[in-house]
Amino acid sequence: MRKKIYLDQASTSFPKASSVADAVYRYLSGFSVNVNRGCYTEAYSVEEQVYETREQLCRLFHFPNCRNVIFTGNVTSSLNILLKGLLKPGDHVLVSAMEHNAVMRPLTQLQKTGVLFDRIPCRQDGSLCLEEAESLIRPNTRALVCLHASNVCGTVMPARELGLLCQKHKIAFILDTAQTAGILPIDMEEMHIDALAFTGHKGLRGPQGIGGFLVRDTLARQIEPLLSGGTGSISHTEEIPDFLPDRFEPGTPNLPGILGLHAALTDLENSSMEEMFRHEMALTDYFLKGLRNLDPESEYIRIVGKQDCIDRCAVVSIQTLQMDMAQAAYELDDRYGIMTRVGLHCAPNAHKTLGTYPAGTIRFSFGPGNTQEELDAALHALAEITGLNG
Ligand code: ALA
Repeated sequence: MRKKIYLDQASTSFPKASSVADAVYRYLSGFSVNVNRGCYTEAYSVEEQVYETREQLCRLFHFPNCRNVIFTGNVTSSLNILLKGLLKPGDHVLVSAMEHNAVMRPLTQLQKTGVLFDRIPCRQDGSLCLEEAESLIRPNTRALVCLHASNVCGTVMPARELGLLCQKHKIAFILDTAQTAGILPIDMEEMHIDALAFTGHKGLRGPQGIGGFLVRDTLARQIEPLLSGGTGSISHTEEIPDFLPDRFEPGTPNLPGILGLHAALTDLENSSMEEMFRHEMALTDYFLKGLRNLDPESEYIRIVGKQDCIDRCAVVSIQTLQMDMAQAAYELDDRYGIMTRVGLHCAPNAHKTLGTYPAGTIRFSFGPGNTQEELDAALHALAEITGLNG
């Protein structure tokens, strides 16, 4: 069978950390019992592993309180809970001009109820105009919500500076780490992050369908839960618990997902995140140079966003200028077995900022398991498909 080359790591990582599949299988094929509901040893053991997973996330993001680690399905669910639970008619929010629909769709829904938002402008390489952020703050600005890195072109946002700004103006700082958790160091204390939304299936290399958020007490107290239901705690009352994590975790959680994430985080703790990132960025640099060597005049291929590797993660977007991009992405897979993501990447305004709306881009994204040989194959395929090879 032809070898396939996976360059769609920004969508979901592949392969997963080596111990993840085993951990999920072990749970499901053994006593796959519930948490917080059974008074037997097996239930306590699962409970312990769930608690350990919260502890691992606290260590990863430098956050002191593992009760304030809430499990959800993904970043989208986390942001929905945070934004819809916090914002009231008349509140104002700041976002970057590079946001994904995980932020923008909840916000446009809320806009219909009287919530207001402004976008902090970004340059054509996706970088944030930090100097313009402060002047957009109003007396009713309640939160600043921002992705840590663009899923379209990999540009990294100045999270620490935004955190400081929010601290100065007493605004909640909510960071979407979809593209950076497990990839870049994130320190909730040092970066003054009030709530951090994460997903387990990208840089953390865990299963899909498990994510969550870490939230400071002061912010958690202001958030009305989006969902309510049984938690296995204070069952004598029909009121939602006022303590964490139960307040935001009704219903049976995704236990196979949490245990898979536990295994992924253990793997991450035993690896060097710095080394993996260095490898991914060496690949990014190699790919960018390869594209420029192929087409020095950018007649066939336009590199979108940042042209270098400073303040970026391992995501590269391009436009094929002489060929329909959907056709090019199709041929990359069909003729060469190369998997990418084409289109608008659920981030229409990011593409407007980058000047690639509505056509979109072909996105290549790299992970710790990708190799230079795979990128050579991608560059060769692009040269043939776009007509660069004559
Ligand atoms: N947001 C993910 C992506 O960019 C799914 O592909």
